[in-house]
Parts: sequence; C-alpha cells; structure tokens
Amino acid sequence: MRFSDKIVVVTGAGSGIGAATARRFSEEGAILLLVGRTESKLEETAREMDADRTHIIVADIAAEGDAERIVTAADDLGGIDVLVNNAGIAVGGTIENVTVGNWQRQIDVNLTGTFRMTKAAWPALKARRGNIVNVSSVSGLGGDWEMFAYNASKGGVSNMTRALALDGAKDGVRVNAVNPSFTASGMTTKMVGNEETIRKFSERMPLGAPADPAAIAAVIAFLASEDARFVTGVNLPVDGGLMASNGQPA
Ligand SMILES: NC(=O)c1ccc[n+]([C@@H]2O[C@H](COP(=O)([O-])OP(=O)(O)OC[C@H]3O[C@@H](n4cnc5c(N)ncnc54)[C@H](O)[C@@H]3O)[C@@H](O)[C@H]2O)c1
Repeated sequence: MRFSDKIVVVTGAGSGIGAATARRFSEEGAILLLVGRTESKLEETAREMDADRTHIIVADIAAEGDAERIVTAADDLGGIDVLVNNAGIAVGGTIENVTVGNWQRQIDVNLTGTFRMTKAAWPALKARRGNIVNVSSVSGLGGDWEMFAYNASKGGVSNMTRALALDGAKDGVRVNAVNPSFTASGMTTKMVGNEETIRKFSERMPLGAPADPAAIAAVIAFLASEDARFVTGVNLPVDGGLMASNGQPA
C-alpha cells in the first residue's frame, strides 16, 4: 500500500500498459484519475477498481486545453502526487513514406502531449513534491528499422526526462522514465498474433517476449514510490534484457 491516499493521474489508461498501471496503483491504495479519449475503455479499466477512489476524464493529451482540464479535475480531488505520462501512438514507416501530417501527429501526441501534461501538472507536483514517470521505450534509447518518427518522439521523451529531473530537483519533483520493449497491448495486437515476430523478439529478449503490461506497471510503481526517493532522471529499460546485448547475434 505504498500509494495510500496518493492522487495518481495515468494517461492512456483505457488499455495496455496504462490500464495495468492504473490497476497496480489502485491495488496499492491510490486515488486514480484515468485519462483517455474513449469513455467506454476507461470505464472498462475502472470496473475492476475501487469505485470510490477511481475517477475518469475523457481527454486528448494532444488537444489544446485538455491538459489543463485534466489537471483541474485532479486539483478537485486534492492535487497530484504522481503523473504517469503513458498515452502514446506509434507511426511506422521510412523517410520515403511518412508524411508531414503523420510525423506531426506522432510528435503532437508522444512528445508535445507529454510536454503539455507536464507543464500543466508542474505547479500541482511542486505543491505536493510529487513525481512523474514517463513511458518512453527502448525505441527512445536506440533506433528501430522503419520507425524513425516514433524513435524521434521517444528519444525526445527520454532526454526531456533527464533535463526535467535536473530542473525539478530543487523543488523535490522527481522525473523518471521506463523504457519497455515489446509488450502485449493494444499497440502490438498484430505483433502478438504473429509467430515469426514472437520468435524474432524472443531471440533478442533473453527473459522472453512479449512482456506482460503488469511487469511494466510494477516498475512504474517502483519509480513513483518512496522506495525510489533518491532516483531521478533515469531511463530504466524494462525489456527482458534486450538492452544488455551489444546487438551481435547469439
Ligand atoms: N506495447 C509496446 O510494445 C510498447 C513498448 C514500448 C513503449 N510503449 C509505450 O507504452 C505506452 C502505452 O502504450 P501501450 O503499449 O499500452 O499501447 P495501447 O495502444 O494499448 O495504449 C496507448 C493508450 O494511449 C491512448 N492514447 C493515444 N493517444 C492519446 C491521446 N492523444 N490522448 C489520450 N490518450 C491517448 C490510447 O487510446 C491507448 O489507450 C505508449 O506510450 C507506447 O509508446 C509500448
């Protein structure tokens, strides 16, 4: 019960890693504000959680004014102790076929959306000496084939995490990131159903692929907790050992 009566905001809480994270914080006693674009998905996540301590808000982190609306809703609950910037999308493709529009949407959601939420929540986090956990990716620490736009967005999130940790320290605001590899979620439904993809990832992830979203949620909860009170500015791979390799094949 590390989060008893702590107020935790989770973006993209309607599925995958965000839903698992919401469940984990709820199990540990938190008051939750679940953020997402689709009410029915948020309700689905909330269904298994303590109704008195679970709140939802339909919002788009990339839309003008929505981050402020989310923070106002959190303030009505008492403030923010933990912000989990989890919502994200993945635009695939090479430089030859990603359009300016697709690039813009990728950056708007993953990078500017994280910025908008962080900027809006910062005064509330300062007031309660709270912390942020960003859901970046191993794709923010190195490149993927045919994912350069996603890589650029997550690289931005990872380095923004480090820099904000420096700025936040004087106010007691910690900022960390987790860096998952292939995890079973809405984003990877097709990959999870493809035997060849599973085989290839299993060769690179010594602990096995794909990860269960709950395994990512557990590390998010650790970074957000008092157990990590002297940890800030880290990008922590939660990748089954993928980043341990120098890239050479077995
Ligand atoms: N699944 C993986 O393999 C993997 C690996 C590394 C990092 N990640 C990251 O994990 C995070 C969660 O993704 P997931 O894997 O659980 O996939 P997911 O698609 O199940 O979850 C993403 C959630 O974010 C929501 N969302 C997207 N854009 C939004 C917006 N503008 N405003 C509000 N909500 C929005 C989606 O509706 C969805 O519920 C993402 O940031 C993703 O990049 C995923």
